[in-house]
Amino acid sequence: MKSLISLALISILAATIHSQNSTYKRGLTDHFIRFLDTNKDYYTYNFNRTQFFGGSFGGKENDSSPINKVPVVFVHGAADMLIGYGWENDGFRYDIEYFLQNGYTKAEIYGSMWGYADIPYEYNLKQDTEYVLAIRKFMEAVLDYTGAPKIDVISHSMGVTLSRAAIKGGKYLLKDIGYISLKPINKNVRTYIGIAGVNYGVLRCQQSFYYDNFFGCNKLNGFYPGNLDKNNKVVNESEFLHNLNNDKTKEGDQAYAMLSLYDNPLTQNGKYNSAFPTMDMAFIYNSSEYTHLVIRDKTSEFQLRLLNSYHPSEFQETEFMFMTNSEYIHQVKVSQEDKELESNFLQ
Ligand SMILES: *[C@@H]1O[C@H](CO)[C@@H](O)[C@H](O)[C@H]1NC(C)=O
Ligand SMILES: *[C@@H]1O[C@H](CO)[C@@H](O)[C@H](O)[C@H]1NC(C)=O
Ligand SMILES: *[C@@H]1O[C@H](CO)[C@@H](O)[C@H](O)[C@H]1NC(C)=O
Ligand SMILES: *[C@@H]1O[C@H](CO)[C@@H](O)[C@H](O)[C@H]1NC(C)=O
Ligand SMILES: *[C@@H]1O[C@H](CO)[C@@H](O)[C@H](O)[C@H]1NC(C)=O
Repeated sequence: MKSLISLALISILAATIHSQNSTYKRGLTDHFIRFLDTNKDYYTYNFNRTQFFGGSFGGKENDSSPINKVPVVFVHGAADMLIGYGWENDGFRYDIEYFLQNGYTKAEIYGSMWGYADIPYEYNLKQDTEYVLAIRKFMEAVLDYTGAPKIDVISHSMGVTLSRAAIKGGKYLLKDIGYISLKPINKNVRTYIGIAGVNYGVLRCQQSFYYDNFFGCNKLNGFYPGNLDKNNKVVNESEFLHNLNNDKTKEGDQAYAMLSLYDNPLTQNGKYNSAFPTMDMAFIYNSSEYTHLVIRDKTSEFQLRLLNSYHPSEFQETEFMFMTNSEYIHQVKVSQEDKELESNFLQ
């Protein structure tokens, strides 16, 4: 209780120190908040996240606010916010600002924070069903509220595995409730983009120091990456990741990964950790500038184009390489050196 109170105090302080950007306002609109407050399917999830400055975004001004684009739902990474005010909690701030400057309105951009932006606790974050469910219900709320037949989804880091699970559905154990079953909603997703995801776990979780000390490394719903058996096959990886990667449901009509060779490059059997089996294509950045956060923050223009008009011929980029799904499935080890870069689940 004491920690809850101090957390509330900290967020009140943060809200007074960080004033709103004069060109747009963080948070959900009153119109969307009213919709959520009066709908029993969504009310309990506290999607407005008003206790955080930067906890949420999106909504119409009034009943006749136009929605001309496929609404985008952003899903941030571990211990982050949706649209915060500093490197540790910026979330999708720079992408949202870019989208707002390039034809999107607040009625077409949505997000609600999962978790508590608690950086010191980050290594204990695991893929709890309550997070999967909150992300899933928020997607349903946006479809319901906007009346759009499909949404686009852009996710980052730990938000990638959580949102892939939310879209694919499946059976999940919910604390104090038991198993719940979620149907896939991939038919309601036009384009899915997973940026810097940790789809095959965190290599450092194999070290006993990490495994023994952090819940985030657990083999049930954590990021335990598994071990290599005699045939170089990965076994004993986290059950959550195992089920997710073996579920053939594609995350949307189109599904893409974006990754950097300077971030989470390889799994122990030589695959790109941020690619995933059901993607159509991965876009691979090979420059030291693209760290775990920069690949989210400095690629807004590409994300927007990828959502709205993907034609391979349009992308004569020099900045990144492509990898198609079949190339990925047959991917061979790139180099042992790259493997030394640690996999990252910081945000
Ligand atoms: C935000 O959501 C919570 C839980 O749904 C609700 O109790 C609260 O009144 C909402 N805030 C506003 C400003 O409506
Ligand atoms: C409704 O909201 C839109 C912006 O989304 C605004 O242009 C319009 O003037 C508003 N209409 C009314 C009646 O307030
Ligand atoms: C406010 O948002 C605009 C984009 O809408 C951005 O260009 C500007 O840098 C932001 N200003 C601050 C102080 O955050
Ligand atoms: C996988 O886990 C089982 C049961 O804990 C264990 O016996 C086996 O040695 C593990 N396999 C590898 C390759 O570590
Ligand atoms: C990444 O770029 C370096 C040169 O900077 C090159 O040696 C390496 O082969 C590239 N990696 C891939 C996978 O193409």
